[in-house]
Amino acid sequence: MKTINKLSSYKELSSTVADIIEYQIQKEPLSRLVLPTGSTPLGLYEELVNRELDWSSIMTFNLDVYIMNPNHPQSYQTFMKKHFFNKINIYPNRCHFPDRNVEVYEQLLRIDFNTLPDLCILGIGTNGHIAFNEPGSSFDSRTRVVSLSEQTIKDNSRFFDSIEDVPKQAITIGLKTIMGSKKIVLMANGKHKKDILEQAMYGKITEDVPASILQKHDNVEVFYCD
Ligand code: PGA
Repeated sequence: MKTINKLSSYKELSSTVADIIEYQIQKEPLSRLVLPTGSTPLGLYEELVNRELDWSSIMTFNLDVYIMNPNHPQSYQTFMKKHFFNKINIYPNRCHFPDRNVEVYEQLLRIDFNTLPDLCILGIGTNGHIAFNEPGSSFDSRTRVVSLSEQTIKDNSRFFDSIEDVPKQAITIGLKTIMGSKKIVLMANGKHKKDILEQAMYGKITEDVPASILQKHDNVEVFYCD
């Protein structure tokens, strides 16, 4: 069972997680961060941009990407450039996204550098997914191609002109990959996330609720605002 830290506002959620990232990159300028997309981290990225930190030695790995043209306005590559990477002094060749060479990504994440990712920031889906590890994903999963669940396609259709435009497949890092991070921070924003968050943090540890695996990690912080 993990503590869910309730914060008073979305602004506080964003600045609390920004504080953790700031501390990490100042303590270790060569940090390797695993980063999310979606609506939840928008305030976090805005806050980090405003802090004008030094990102020049930082390496990032995104959690997941849709299988679609990376130049599409709704691709996660475009999202990261628009909201974060183009606004900080990070080197584009240090910003990694999963691609079909899933083993190469997995290797980059944890083997080539002979060290684990320092900090992984996560959101949670209304069905309990973390990254695009949908309910039923194996706790032993690694980076791979996945089909999105009906629920995720429905949830994410708000970013597209119509539900038919939402990609049906994605590439995601696995649950085991996530668990390999030295520290994990889970962010959840909104009352619609409360039930699934409580189920994940207080309920049974089960592949039906992928985020419940986080109960088994000894360095996880969970932040929620409604
Ligand atoms: P959201 O998505 O931040 O857009 O709510 C979170 C997620 O699906 O992981």
